Amino acid sequence: MSRLDSAIRRLMAQKNALEWAVDAVTGINGPVLELGLGNGRTYDHLREIATDRRIYVFERVVAAHPDCVPPDEHLFLGDFTQSLPRAIKQLGAVAAMAHLDIGTGVKSDSTRLAERIAPLVRDLLAPGALVVSDQEIADWSECRLETPPGIPEGRIHLYRPIVGSAL
Ligand SMILES: C[S@@+](CC[C@H](N)C(=O)[O-])C[C@H]1O[C@@H](n2cnc3c(N)ncnc32)[C@H](O)[C@@H]1O
Repeated sequence: MSRLDSAIRRLMAQKNALEWAVDAVTGINGPVLELGLGNGRTYDHLREIATDRRIYVFERVVAAHPDCVPPDEHLFLGDFTQSLPRAIKQLGAVAAMAHLDIGTGVKSDSTRLAERIAPLVRDLLAPGALVVSDQEIADWSECRLETPPGIPEGRIHLYRPIVGSAL
């Protein structure tokens, strides 16, 4: 497979997984969390497909397309390890869905980061919430969901973490 084909498959998997997850959390109230604003592509898509939800964005430094910069009040700036604890204090366990798009290009670093922030993300989730992640999270292997039809295996990872008193 060419690198172009591979990139297209990855982006299609991401798009389809986000659309599937937004649909799957229809019955759960609460905001969406977007970890990794980057140039704002997936944030922009979430704005289109989750029009009735507040979207809180976590990013170290904003460098997005000007049309895709979230309002200050929905932005948690700084390293995830600092901004997620702030969000837990401010918001609590309210999110219906979280999207982790945190890959830095170095696989081992990205996996380590995902493992490190997974407990913090979980503390922001409402019961039944879904997580769409570009990184596999070994600690959540027991709450991993089957990849829905139409989404290539191994490109994106879906979880419904056990939260709150069920822990
Ligand atoms: C793959 S990009 C996100 C792409 C974006 N979702 C899009 O569609 O344009 C990953 C982003 O995660 C951010 N990031 C990586 N590690 C981080 C950390 N420890 N704390 C905060 N942001 C981080 C990077 O700054 C980068 O913008």
